[in-house]
Amino acid sequence: MSAAAEKPVHYLDHAATTPVLPAVVDELSRLLRVPGNAGSVHGSGRRARRLVEESRERLAAALGARPGDVVFTGGGTEADNLAVKGLYWARQGRPRRRVLVSEVEHHAVLDAAGWLGAQQGAVVEHLPVDSDGVVRLDAVRAALDADPDGVAVLSCMWVNNEVGAVQPLDAVVELAHSRGVPVHTDAVQALGQVPVDLGSLGADAVSITGHKIGGPVGVGALIVGPDHERAPRPVALLHGGGQERGMRSGTADVAGIGALALAGELAVERQREQAARLRGLGRSLLERVRAAVPDVVLNGPAVDGPESMRSPAIWHLTFPGCDGDALLMLLDAGGVECSTGSACSAGVPQASHVLLAMGRDETAAAGSLRLSLGHSSHRPTWKPSPPLSGRW
Ligand SMILES: Cc1ncc(COP(=O)(O)O)c(C=O)c1O
Repeated sequence: MSAAAEKPVHYLDHAATTPVLPAVVDELSRLLRVPGNAGSVHGSGRRARRLVEESRERLAAALGARPGDVVFTGGGTEADNLAVKGLYWARQGRPRRRVLVSEVEHHAVLDAAGWLGAQQGAVVEHLPVDSDGVVRLDAVRAALDADPDGVAVLSCMWVNNEVGAVQPLDAVVELAHSRGVPVHTDAVQALGQVPVDLGSLGADAVSITGHKIGGPVGVGALIVGPDHERAPRPVALLHGGGQERGMRSGTADVAGIGALALAGELAVERQREQAARLRGLGRSLLERVRAAVPDVVLNGPAVDGPESMRSPAIWHLTFPGCDGDALLMLLDAGGVECSTGSACSAGVPQASHVLLAMGRDETAAAGSLRLSLGHSSHRPTWKPSPPLSGRW
């Protein structure tokens, strides 16, 4: 084994992707050996189909949804696109051009809405957030009231992927529903970190993805509510074999779906215990960073505020006067892996739209790091190698 391979690594980038849980690896490899296309009528096909339907039931039960509401997708980006574009198109029975999205959405929502604006005549309006990254309910109410009948869809994420702010979703859903507007929420960073019960939330479409909860990459789901006037079934993005009740054509990924169902069950079952553990780890990490860098700023809701306001997994820090990219490389060299923002836009040299929306300037945004924890996080039992050892 090379020296590089032996170097201990402290992985602090679970919000980008978290390792697949050992039980899920076992389930995935078991299911990969099962032959059959879930659309075939012979015995192997019927067995594959049964696995898909059982997985649908298990995932729905874990999330507090109905099996018929679960639409399997190729991940969170696809689920977000299906919700935003699909609901927009489904609500054009009479023209409704307005699309309301929070300013801090993941690009999978922001850019889907932007595309509707650029290509389909939608009018996209961004709902502002406060300095903690929490959507302002007064602005949501005002935007809805400006012309509720003209709104096709409102999308507000559950937990922000950069700063970990939990959004006041119950209130957003109530405001929108009382005006006849359907709500989509991106719950990709919520599942496993905060309590998720879709039955009591009542949102019309909810996105999840496997690889943020200990499942594989490339499988996710959009959970849609019952088909009714406010929230008709989303119009499909993909056409072909008519799978997933016509909402998502493509041969079912039996193994991935089974693995997603198990990861979803485990995420819900372990959420309380994991949240308490990660919160403790995150607090001690913050204390240690503060001891070394007293002027470090924690972004997002205050750590001593209500626990329900921030994800226990995401700790986003600004190091005044530092360059986040340089810091990231330095930490990487010392065996600490983290991110300067969302991995999906990493490599693109532009300030985080989330921090800018929170009122930070470009310099602060450029001097920030996201440290994110997950199921395999633990207290370090090793000392970081120089040059970090003097500061950490
Ligand atoms: C909030 C949020 N939504 C959507 C996505 C995209 O999910 P996927 O990587 O499964 O396409 C991510 C991934 O970073 C995310 O954090």
